[in-house]
Amino acid sequence: MCGIVGYSGPQSAALPLIQGLRRLEYRGYDSAGIALGTPGTLFIEKKAGKLSNLENALDASLPTVHSGIGHTRWATHGGPTDRNAHPHVDNDGKLAVIHNGIIENYSELRATLQARGHKFSSETDTESVAHLLSDLRKEHKGDLAGAMCDAVKLLRGSFTLVAIHADNPDVVVGVRRNSPLVVGLGKGENFMASDVAAFIDYTKRAIELGQDEVVTMTPTSVVITNLKGAVIVPKEYEISWDATAAQKGGFNHFMLKEIFEQPKAVADTLIGRLSDNKQIVLDELHMSIEEIRALKKITVIACGTAYHAGMLAKYAIEKWAKIPVEVEIASEYRYRDPIVDPQTLVIAISQSGETMDTLMALRHAKSAGARVFAICNTHSSTIPRESDAVLYTHAGPEIAVASTKAFLTQIIAVYLIGLHLAQINGALKDVQVEELYNELLELPGKIEQILQTAEPLRALTRTFAHNNIVLFLGRNIGYPVALEGALKLKELAYIHAEGFAGGELKHGPIALIDSGTPVIAILPVGDEHGLNEKMLSNIQEVKARGARVIVITEEGANIEGAEHIIRIPVVPALLQPILATVPLQLFAYEMALARGNDVDQPRNLAKSVTVE
Ligand code: G6P
Repeated sequence: MCGIVGYSGPQSAALPLIQGLRRLEYRGYDSAGIALGTPGTLFIEKKAGKLSNLENALDASLPTVHSGIGHTRWATHGGPTDRNAHPHVDNDGKLAVIHNGIIENYSELRATLQARGHKFSSETDTESVAHLLSDLRKEHKGDLAGAMCDAVKLLRGSFTLVAIHADNPDVVVGVRRNSPLVVGLGKGENFMASDVAAFIDYTKRAIELGQDEVVTMTPTSVVITNLKGAVIVPKEYEISWDATAAQKGGFNHFMLKEIFEQPKAVADTLIGRLSDNKQIVLDELHMSIEEIRALKKITVIACGTAYHAGMLAKYAIEKWAKIPVEVEIASEYRYRDPIVDPQTLVIAISQSGETMDTLMALRHAKSAGARVFAICNTHSSTIPRESDAVLYTHAGPEIAVASTKAFLTQIIAVYLIGLHLAQINGALKDVQVEELYNELLELPGKIEQILQTAEPLRALTRTFAHNNIVLFLGRNIGYPVALEGALKLKELAYIHAEGFAGGELKHGPIALIDSGTPVIAILPVGDEHGLNEKMLSNIQEVKARGARVIVITEEGANIEGAEHIIRIPVVPALLQPILATVPLQLFAYEMALARGNDVDQPRNLAKSVTVE
């Protein structure tokens, strides 16, 4: 939510800044702006709309200077206008600041600063920080880092702030609290950004900034302190993926590329998880056998797509390991006095590791005494760092706003946990675990098969482009799949898409069915509990009321009444969601294209939501 980039070094700063912003645009794309470190008065350009608007506005007269800051915005306080775009400057036009997050006490600050004579020109919370820093810098005799330390002590909320001043333009100062900031260490140049993707073209050496740490960088130095000014020795790490991972690689959209990367992502997340003596290897859990056996309950907290992976965790862990699992939308969790104790394991699932709702729920669980385990795709992000332990999914960078490969790997991760717990509890025999693990290992090939034979589905989807409602039906593990299919479609096609449990159809949703309403039904595997038959009845019920039915089912299954059948390879029931989701991703992708929508950057959304 908002992308931030800073640069100090020998290059003409506009180049790495714009390049960085391109990579960070997934974090927000309501407006974009840069401040360049021109001595005397900073050069500022900012424009509402996508980054391309800013690029068009930056003409040949762009000054060649060697430091600057850049921002791409997801609007919170103040609409997406030129004036509200970042950077925000003080009244001298010498100090500029960019911000990701929310300054909760901004209106008090604004009133105090206005009383001191500061003139505001935007409706943002961020502008208060520009004026505040300006005053404090004067008190600190020109020391921007000192001013930043004192400013942060006066701020409430979540923020990454990066600032620059025209009198010392080589010096870029940043700080973070509850929002991400990483430093990239180059040769004779240094970078700051919300995400390593911003500077991966220039360096693979990075430092993750801790909570309330202030970083001061020049082309040749990086100094990190706490808010009292005491120097902190940073932990440097090597970024494990290269620049090509953040490029489209021949695909028209990141989303399509990421859908096609799913076989590899699933394989990478599974690799090496079964030992020679048939034990699931999950050392990341950091729990003793006794602690696992003493577990009374697991609570999964997550948002959006990750929440759907959490729902599948409930089906798998309860079935395999016989441990009760509850699944909570993270933003609701801490407001209902959840019952938590040391025998509760809380699993936080998050692709980005930065989702504020999930982070706050995690903190609440921790403070109530729970052990917190993260499933995350982004190394060293806040959620894993604040958890007791972490299992990283190996999906690689996910750039399209709508999550695809991260979701599939999250399901793999929760299934591995389920198998591990089941093995330790003795709920599954080693041979059963081995069988299921081997089935998991076959998934990449089966996903590949779906992708290679998807053209008819893509063509079919285009015939639905004019529909403004699509309903999804599932039962049992097909229900989270239905929810995920509907979420993808809402995000990308901007239409009313709803997922329902098949049994609920008769309790209201069936009233939505009209002549031609598309209904996508996920048919359960096998016929445990007669679910298959019940879903077939649901299909007849909607068909009788005029629905156009698409059924997703396994190869060989006999279906009547469906207008279209999408076949997926045969797998054990619990593994079906991993395959059944793939056609739904493609359906949403094609619908977005057919409706002329922006696939990778859908309206009003951001990938990493760092506000509550
Ligand atoms: C945003 C994204 C969703 C994502 C959700 C959770 O709303 O648009 O695609 O599922 O955040 O994100 P996380 O990074 O915590 O998995």
